Amino acid sequence: MINNDELLPEPIPRHVGIIMDGNGRWAKQKNISRSEGHKAGAEAIEPLMDSAIALGIKAVSLYAFSVENWIRPINEIRGLWDLLEYFFQHKLEAIKSKKIQIRHSGSLSKLPPKTRQTIKEAIEATSMNRGLILNFCINYGGRQEIIRAFNEWLSNTKNPEKITEKKFEKFLYTFGMPDLDLLIRTSGEYRISNFLLWQLAYTELVFTDVLWPDFKPNDLYKAIIEYQKRERRYGGI
Ligand code: IPE
Ligand code: IPE
Ligand code: MG
Repeated sequence: MINNDELLPEPIPRHVGIIMDGNGRWAKQKNISRSEGHKAGAEAIEPLMDSAIALGIKAVSLYAFSVENWIRPINEIRGLWDLLEYFFQHKLEAIKSKKIQIRHSGSLSKLPPKTRQTIKEAIEATSMNRGLILNFCINYGGRQEIIRAFNEWLSNTKNPEKITEKKFEKFLYTFGMPDLDLLIRTSGEYRISNFLLWQLAYTELVFTDVLWPDFKPNDLYKAIIEYQKRERRYGGI
């Protein structure tokens, strides 16, 4: 049930990217640990997925861990891996029954083997699902994705000629997903932080002061209402 009068039936963004920021500040306000903040942040995901499905959104990319986040204290990082394992283990049945397809963008190679395995299992177990695509960006960087795509193209091309955008996009993690129509960043930060740099070329950007653990379905509706008011010109008049 979508409970917001201002929300129009269309346009609905096909692919929404979310920079889930503010878990640490949320925890600080409550005088609890940053790990507790991340836990609350993870809990915010499922109701939003239900709303995304109800709205008819095709794909959601969630920024969960950037290549830059490795500079954080090791205990916080370990806590995040534990949390991801917990999330995929406990939510997998619900994810399956909702026909959600889990994808991953980034490199899993530096993650602890158990976390890596859990994520891979979730991807495999849902690969045939044709509902919402839920793309977890973990150990992800936009620049790294572009460089990797270029190198993949190079090693997959016998006689490298000039590359085109179309050919290049096949090597991006997001290949096969719809265009990124809307980006939401929570917590009042106005930057991209190396997220989906290629895909953001003509994306509508919505920033909100709400901290990620407080971001509820109604905040998603508000972001989409703002999106519906935008005039997308793509360079035209
Ligand atoms: C976002 O919340 C989650 C991750 C980057 C893993 P933060 O941990 O960045 O929260 P703040 O920005 O410190 O409040
Ligand atoms: C961006 O948030 C990365 C994720 C949400 C996973 P950060 O909190 O790491 O970004 P900066 O450091 O404020 O740019
Ligand atoms: Mg942050």
